Amino acid sequence: MNHFLDIHTTAPEDLRAMIDAARSMKDARTGRPKGAPDDDQPLAGRMVALIFEKPSTRTRVSFDVGVRQMGGQTMVLSGSDMQLGHGETIADTARVLSRYVDMIMMRTFEEATVQEMAEYASVPVINGLTNRTHPCQIMADVMTYEEHRGPIAGKKVVWSGDGNNVCASLIHGAGQFGFDLTFTGPPTLDPEAEAIEFARSKGSRVEIERDPAIAVEGADLVVTDTWVSMHDSQSARERRHNQLRPYQVNDALMARAKPDALFMHCLPAHRDEEVTSKVMDGPASVVFDEAENRLHAQKAIMRWCLGL
Ligand code: CP
Ligand code: NVA
Repeated sequence: MNHFLDIHTTAPEDLRAMIDAARSMKDARTGRPKGAPDDDQPLAGRMVALIFEKPSTRTRVSFDVGVRQMGGQTMVLSGSDMQLGHGETIADTARVLSRYVDMIMMRTFEEATVQEMAEYASVPVINGLTNRTHPCQIMADVMTYEEHRGPIAGKKVVWSGDGNNVCASLIHGAGQFGFDLTFTGPPTLDPEAEAIEFARSKGSRVEIERDPAIAVEGADLVVTDTWVSMHDSQSARERRHNQLRPYQVNDALMARAKPDALFMHCLPAHRDEEVTSKVMDGPASVVFDEAENRLHAQKAIMRWCLGL
């Protein structure tokens, strides 16, 4: 049994095997209705709890559909409806849930919450986003890049905007999958130093360039995300918008990247804020492939967690 808690704490060969498995599982479903079962039913008889302490569209639906395609059953739980939201400890919740379900996926605020869940659960725990990281997203992103352009190793990825949770996992991904990453954004919203150190220790080039036009030169992939994340205080909204406006991904910025550069966004997007609709709907954008690949990548993650 394995927990899937972060990109940097999972062995690179395991991450690679999951991406390859996701690709084969996706290919095997070509042309099937979304609700049709996979030929392989590794989750038959298994129950998976999906716990959300924050809103979600993609994570919720893709995990739920993925479990069902593999023959399992799900229960979607809102943190506030559970005793978890009324003082029961994470450790006790983990021990109780482990008596009922075979796997737990959790989206929460503090990273410590998902880590404590994993420490006390006797079933695998998957990180479905915390304030600090979003590892499932980066698995889908790597899969998506490689589907369109081949191996991501050695490529130049540019993150423009807030150095947030998705950015931290992408930097972990740079270290584990061997790509280079340039961050461009205001100094107050830099990604965490620990993630940068991790990627550099693995031999990736990680740079910070304040001028977005310079940062995207030679980029194979340009990525951004919302300027205000779910855990950010709404009172910081205006200040963040003012600081991040110069980092909007638009046609002028994309024109400075390589001609075949792709554009990614984990979604939900705020059109014409962090990215223009023109780029979102333009030829470089693979945002809906990314969203689809959450399903396939997470199915591979769940199989790896259960050793199936
Ligand atoms: N990208 C992502 O995790 O989307 P949701 O918040 O809709 O799950
Ligand atoms: N950075 C965003 C990602 C949403 C999928 C957030 O945490 O709100």
